[in-house]
Amino acid sequence: MSAEFVFINEVGPRDGLQNQKTILTPRDRLTLINQLIEANLPGIEVASFVNPKAVPAMDGAPEIMLGLQEINNCEISVLVPNLKGFELAREAGAKIISVVPSATETMNQKNINMSLGETISSSCNILKEAKISNLRTRAYVSVAWECPYEGKVDSKIVLDIASQMLSSGADEIILADTIGAANPSSVGLLFRNCVSEFGHEILSGHFHDTRAMALANVCAALAEGIRKFDSCIGGLGGCPFAPGAAGNLATEDLANMLDQMGYSTNIDLRKLSEIVLFCEEQLHAPLGGRMSAWLNKQSKAI
Ligand code: HMG
Ligand code: MG
Repeated sequence: MSAEFVFINEVGPRDGLQNQKTILTPRDRLTLINQLIEANLPGIEVASFVNPKAVPAMDGAPEIMLGLQEINNCEISVLVPNLKGFELAREAGAKIISVVPSATETMNQKNINMSLGETISSSCNILKEAKISNLRTRAYVSVAWECPYEGKVDSKIVLDIASQMLSSGADEIILADTIGAANPSSVGLLFRNCVSEFGHEILSGHFHDTRAMALANVCAALAEGIRKFDSCIGGLGGCPFAPGAAGNLATEDLANMLDQMGYSTNIDLRKLSEIVLFCEEQLHAPLGGRMSAWLNKQSKAI
């Protein structure tokens, strides 16, 4: 029997780099993205069309898209915070866009300068426009478990936002633990509620690893039938507007765990560890998930 496939969507070039002290040029970001494609990542969020004054590290998104027009073996997506970002992304040739509503009033204000109501209606309009343009669509629900400004989040709000995004044309809902405050029990509960409402096929998990529970959270989501996860090479990441947001779950740790559990990801683990070294050189910082040192030792032993 062939192993069950789990889709890992790499968000390092976007979530991973948006908060780094060292800002990479679009050319270096393209080198990173091409290496990730070579490592067989099936999906990559490559950029965000945000105001470069708000997030300087994401400047140059059109250049990134221009360099990826010929790619057809990887799902290339971009984040769009508002209608202007969506229009710029569409112009630049994006085929998959992600909107980013947060579940609380304050988080939306801090992140994209809109109220919760404005964010929902703007995200719904973008999704409808995207469908008219035949684009594929993802909708995050950020701070799905806990908000750095308002504390614990009521799951009813998360379900309501997800439902509105789906009615407006979202192909996928990504429940995001923005500050890494969820645990396997709360992850299992929220995904169970969402699966019973929407089915597991359109749901995905995005876990930051602040309290070292991201892998355990993936296991809790797997148990609810979830087969798609975001992660960041080297464990990079964090939202600049969410105090306390540490790095995402490291892609190499996620791919390795799934591999050892008998799932298939199609990802080349050795290439991933080379990419971690490339990122370390570029960012002048030590990186890597928990298994990097072990994998490097294994490689040397062969
Ligand atoms: P604003 O100031 O309200 O925008 O910012 P505005 O409409 O008032 O316009 C002000 C200026 O921004 C104007 O330029 C606009 O043209 C420009 P000016 O006239 O001053 O020269 N502008 C834009 N420029 C480029 N791209 C755009 C855009 N929109 C307006 N899209 C805005 C609103 C959303 C732009 C701003 O708040 C922003 O860029 N925020 C960045 C948000 C962000 O990147 N957050 C991190 C990503 S989300 C995340 O990390 C969470 C996630 O990982 C999941 C999780 O973990 O929870 C996805
Ligand atoms: Mg994130």
